[in-house]
Amino acid sequence: MSDAPIIAQKAPYAVPVEAGKTYYWCACGQSKNQPFCDGSHKGSSFTPLAFTAEDTKTAYLCGCKHTQNAPFCDGSHKAL
Ligand code: FES
Repeated sequence: MSDAPIIAQKAPYAVPVEAGKTYYWCACGQSKNQPFCDGSHKGSSFTPLAFTAEDTKTAYLCGCKHTQNAPFCDGSHKAL
């Protein structure tokens, strides 16, 4: 099994998040419910990343799964 995540899309997902709520960002790229985990990582070496939103706002969550600042887009998708 490869350790490379699947690129769900080479762009972030803009999603509304609510302060204090916990979200599970898909790290493996296989979820059909991007950018969130739907359990598709089972059997792989990946697990979702839980994060709690600090503010109610639009978050830009990494869709390429190659960010160095997960779960957020850090621009790494431009180099893929
Ligand atoms: S979408 Fe992954 S770094 Fe931008």
